[in-house]
Amino acid sequence: MMTAQEILQLNASLLDSQPKDIMAAVIKEIPNFALSFSGAEDVVLIEMASKLQPSPPVFTLDTGRLHAETYQFMEQVRDHYSLTLETLHPNPESLKKLISNKGLYSFYTDGHEECCGIRKVEPLKQKLAGLDAWITGQRRDQSPTRADVPVIQIDKTFSTDSHQLIKVNPLANWSSADVWNYIRMFDVPFNPLHERGYISIGCEPCSRAVRPNQHEREGRWWWEESTQKECGLHIANLQDKSPE
Ligand code: ADX
Ligand code: SF4
Repeated sequence: MMTAQEILQLNASLLDSQPKDIMAAVIKEIPNFALSFSGAEDVVLIEMASKLQPSPPVFTLDTGRLHAETYQFMEQVRDHYSLTLETLHPNPESLKKLISNKGLYSFYTDGHEECCGIRKVEPLKQKLAGLDAWITGQRRDQSPTRADVPVIQIDKTFSTDSHQLIKVNPLANWSSADVWNYIRMFDVPFNPLHERGYISIGCEPCSRAVRPNQHEREGRWWWEESTQKECGLHIANLQDKSPE
């Protein structure tokens, strides 16, 4: 297990590194890790990971509520990179209870936490319990809640007393423009919804296209406050801004 001091040092040493080099450093330091892919523009991480040896395993949270375009895009990515893409699914009993009690759109009235908790956070928690680190596509420029995201940090949401989990954000320093330059330069496949005004893409009922002058995450859970727009995967962003 790395100490908080070692993580701070690793974070400091990687601050100016390119995402691919950050992932390579993680492979060396923490071999038991996986990359979480959301079906949006963080596909650049898969492109970079495909050039690494060994190339890290990739998983995605299939909430059951993604756009048809996102499912088709995931299959395109699977084919393009000959990727074994692990899909994680919600617990059927929890889902049944939620839908029986509150229907399919409870998030519009009750907030998104309950549904995200069942469809994303619980399956993710189970997956992360077997890993020492996970890689995400979070960027600082995505949202006010992400303005201080470090390159590498202890994941305080999913670590437990007996299991330390490290979270790596190789794109933390990249802007949206950097991501899109990379996608064009390397001919990386992308979700066709990006060409229809969607910037940040999550579940279909909770994501919509944004106008040119709107911030990219305004289309996510648009009925809620922008300072609270974290679904539970990255909830620590709202509470804790330090790398350790
Ligand atoms: S979210 O928390 O608001 O949904 P966002 O869509 O910005 O997150 O994505 C940030 C990062 O969280 C992604 O780059 C990815 O690493 C991870 N992530 C988000 N949604 C998923 C998903 N459905 N499956 C796997 N990883 C995801
Ligand atoms: Fe449910 Fe919406 Fe969260 Fe998807 S984003 S899990 S549909 S509340």
